[in-house]
Amino acid sequence: MPSDPAGEAAIGSTVGPTAAGATPQLSLRGLVKSFDDTPGGTLALDRVSFDVAAGAFVAIVGPSGSGKSTLLRLIGDLLPPSGGEIRVCGHEPSEARRRREFGMVFQSPVLYSWRKVLANVELPLQVQGVPRAERRAQAMASLSRVGLADVADRKPRQLSGGMQQRVAIARAMVVRPRILLMDEPFGSLDELTRERLNLELLELWRATGVTVLFVTHDIEEAVFLADRVIVFTPGPGRLAAEIAIDLPRPRDEQTRTDVAYFDRVNQVRRALRGAMLAGEAPTGEPSG
Ligand SMILES: Nc1ncnc2c1ncn2[C@@H]1O[C@H](COP(=O)(O)OP(=O)(O)OP(=O)(O)O)[C@@H](O)[C@H]1O
Ligand SMILES: [Mg+2]
Repeated sequence: MPSDPAGEAAIGSTVGPTAAGATPQLSLRGLVKSFDDTPGGTLALDRVSFDVAAGAFVAIVGPSGSGKSTLLRLIGDLLPPSGGEIRVCGHEPSEARRRREFGMVFQSPVLYSWRKVLANVELPLQVQGVPRAERRAQAMASLSRVGLADVADRKPRQLSGGMQQRVAIARAMVVRPRILLMDEPFGSLDELTRERLNLELLELWRATGVTVLFVTHDIEEAVFLADRVIVFTPGPGRLAAEIAIDLPRPRDEQTRTDVAYFDRVNQVRRALRGAMLAGEAPTGEPSG
C-alpha cells in the first residue's frame, strides 16, 4: 500500500463507469517517474492514480512539463516507471504491448516517407507476420474508416497535415487495439481541421468501442470529446482535479454552443488555474 494515499483518495478512482465494479481497462496506482539523467534529477510524475473503464473517453489537460507525455509513454511501455503500478487490460505494459492491447498516436504522425500510405498502415500487421493479402484488406478497412481509402497509393508527403494524422490513427487502429493513447494528436492543425477531426474521432470511438486516453493543451477540445477530464498540476505531475463531462452524445457542432458546454469548459479552466496557482511559489518576498 502507498504510504501517502491522501491525494489519491481525494481524487479517487471511482468516478465514471468503473464505480459499477467492472474491472477497469486501464489502472494506475501510485505511479512515480523520475528522470535521474538530468542534474539533480527530475520528478516528472508523483503518485498518480486513476482508472479508466472500458469504452470510456478520458482527456488529460495540464501545463507544459506536467508529465502528460511521460504518463502516456509509461502506459505505452516506451519508458519504465520508477514506482507504482500500471495495468493495461490486466497486464503489465510490456505484456499489453505484445498483445497489441493499445495503439499510440503522437503529435507528429511519424510516417515512413518512402512507403505508400497503405504500406504505412499495414506496418504493425507486417511486424506481426499477418499474410500480405489479409493485412492489405485490414489496412484498407482501417483507412476507409478515417475516410482515406482513395489516397492509399500516395506517399505521405502528398497528403495534408490533417490527412497524415488520420493515417497515423488508421495505423494505430489497424491491430484493433482496446485502448488508444493519443498525445496532442491534433495540436499542430488549424482550428477548423482540428474540429473536423474531433468529430471523426468521436465517430471512430463510437463505431469501434475503443477506450481513449487523450492528452491535449486545449480545454475546449478536452471537454468536447471526453466523459472525464483529468487535470494535472505543474511538474511534478499530480492529479489536481477530475471533472465529469456529462454532456449528451452524440456531440456535434451544436454542442459547442450549449450553455452546459461552456459551464464545463469554465470548470476545467478554473481547476487548471487553481492547480497552476497552487504550484507557484508564494509571492510577497523579494527574490534573490
Ligand atoms: N527523457 C527524459 N529525460 C529527462 N527528463 C525528461 C525526459 N522526458 C521528460 N522529461 C522531463 O519530465 C517532465 C515532464 O515532461 P513531459 O514531456 O511529460 O511533459 P508534458 O506535460 O507532456 O509537457 P508538454 O505539454 O509541453 O508536452 C519535464 O520536466 C521534462 O523535462
Ligand atoms: Mg507532452
